Amino acid sequence: MCGIIGITSNENVSADIIGALRKLEYRGYDSAGIAIHESNKIFQRKVKGKLDNLVKSLELEKSEGKTGIGHTRWATHGKPSERNAHPHSSPYVSLVHNGIIENVSDLKNLAELEEYSFESETDSEVITALLSHYRKEGYAHIDCVKETISKLVGSYALAIIFSDQKESIFGAKNGSPLVAGINNSGTSLGSDSIALSSVAEKVCYLEDGDIVVCNKNILEIFNIAGEKVEREFVDIGFDETDISKGNFQHFMEKEIHEHPQAVGETFKQFIDHDKGLITVSDFELDFTSFSRIHLIACGTAYYSCLVAKYYFEEYARIPVDCDMASEYRYRNPVLDKNALCIFVSQSGETADTKAALDYSKSLGIKTLSIVNVKNSSIARESDLCMYTKAGAEIGVASTKAFTAQLSVLLSMAIHLGTINKTLSENQNKEICHEIMKAPTLLEEAIKRSYSLKETAQSIINAKGVMYLGRGTSFPLALEGALKFKEISYIHAEGYPAGEMKHGPLALIEKDLPVVCIVPPGELFHKTVSNIQEVIARGGKILMITDDDTLQSGSENIWQVFRLPKSPKSIETIIYSVPIHMLAYYTAVELGNDVDQPRNLAKSVTVE
Ligand code: AGP
Repeated sequence: MCGIIGITSNENVSADIIGALRKLEYRGYDSAGIAIHESNKIFQRKVKGKLDNLVKSLELEKSEGKTGIGHTRWATHGKPSERNAHPHSSPYVSLVHNGIIENVSDLKNLAELEEYSFESETDSEVITALLSHYRKEGYAHIDCVKETISKLVGSYALAIIFSDQKESIFGAKNGSPLVAGINNSGTSLGSDSIALSSVAEKVCYLEDGDIVVCNKNILEIFNIAGEKVEREFVDIGFDETDISKGNFQHFMEKEIHEHPQAVGETFKQFIDHDKGLITVSDFELDFTSFSRIHLIACGTAYYSCLVAKYYFEEYARIPVDCDMASEYRYRNPVLDKNALCIFVSQSGETADTKAALDYSKSLGIKTLSIVNVKNSSIARESDLCMYTKAGAEIGVASTKAFTAQLSVLLSMAIHLGTINKTLSENQNKEICHEIMKAPTLLEEAIKRSYSLKETAQSIINAKGVMYLGRGTSFPLALEGALKFKEISYIHAEGYPAGEMKHGPLALIEKDLPVVCIVPPGELFHKTVSNIQEVIARGGKILMITDDDTLQSGSENIWQVFRLPKSPKSIETIIYSVPIHMLAYYTAVELGNDVDQPRNLAKSVTVE
């Protein structure tokens, strides 16, 4: 997704803008640009490709300005190119935009814009054209912004500088996230608080319809009616170590190693140590009032929902529906008025999930979100919010957030089961004891997963990889396939092991790698027979199981990867580690951009 920055300060802003843009790189982008107010003109540089290209171009001609804007672009309208990179400028104004303007063709046909010569293929440039028109007509700066955004249909987070106003940055927000920051040397705007972590001490999360005016010493916020509004400023909540790779080569590698801490910190919220019980009662949620639960999310977060369906139905005997957010509100779902809709999102900014949340709220359904980023849009808009405590997740491929999501959802299912008396208090205590073992088991799983580096080296030329599992290992197979394809760019497919014979078995040919997730338990032998069906057709099996299973009969299995024996309640969390590590090692072996894989963004803030 695009990232926007605006900084006005007592000092030169060029380096701070670049530094803030670097903190937005994790979102994924394909071009970048900067515009800085220089006495009576705007200095601008735009490049295709990465920020390093922009830095090189700035070395050729430094800017001394103290007010500026910056952008990392993830192409939506118009291919990645210097021409389509932001900022988009005219002699009157310079602008950076995150979002999608849906009525761009109508706007370009407006009489007001008939003389404007568009240079780019982007939707964003139409905003520049409108701002220029109003400024040329003599509107005050803030009225230019108001008039312009009143014409826009779609999502936007904007940072704007006017050529004849060298000390201010104007911002506006609708649908895309925008954060305003302050510190003792100035004020700033950014797409998220991570980006502002070096230039702001306190931040506020702007609401849809807000217009903000940033000056060196003061930051004013107005609503769409033009009334001044107050927004709560909070401590920025990140420190530099949160968002550095430490001793790791990639953020993804660091974040896989943080599974133990992410899961431990997340479970800690729900463990009542005095009673030895799992309890979620601090969240003002009367679970007994719900007849059905709908779990709604995208991507990896959706797979955590698919796992949670097993948790809720097994432990709490409550019916659960799972929906991909991008499908949910278009299928006219039958929603019971006593249902609870739970929205799961690492970033808390995914446009599809946010839109699904808004849809459910419009129907009067109770909404709860499970997010990893404090004060994110989904967190703020839902009736109730619970947090995964995974810490900042920077790698585009979600890892520790996934196991942290499973930790929240499992805790809720155990708590709900105890209330519904489908679980006894003793069973709750037993599972609580099991949950406390998760961090240690995860540490051991990480250590053992180092051996998968060799496995990865032997599958980098595969034309595809299958992931199979039954029960909660089936959604984990989907997660494994997603992880694999999104960073190795090799096609991978997750499938229920029992379904292979109904078609996909035709895909099996000699040496096709098939990853089978086979924890011990009632489904073990059935899954092993599915494995034999694959082997009989030449498939190469990587079997992920534990120390105790299959002490014999594994000779025709290509590789058996063994995890420490894990309690059933947390085994999907533990089995996530080799799944994530295999994808990571494969991408590294292929020399791919592991943390910012091509075409992808960390937070998909467009539908
Ligand atoms: C997962 O590795 C992907 N990056 C992607 O599927 C992601 O899970 C999805 O976009 C949802 O993001 P969210 O959790 O921030 O809503």
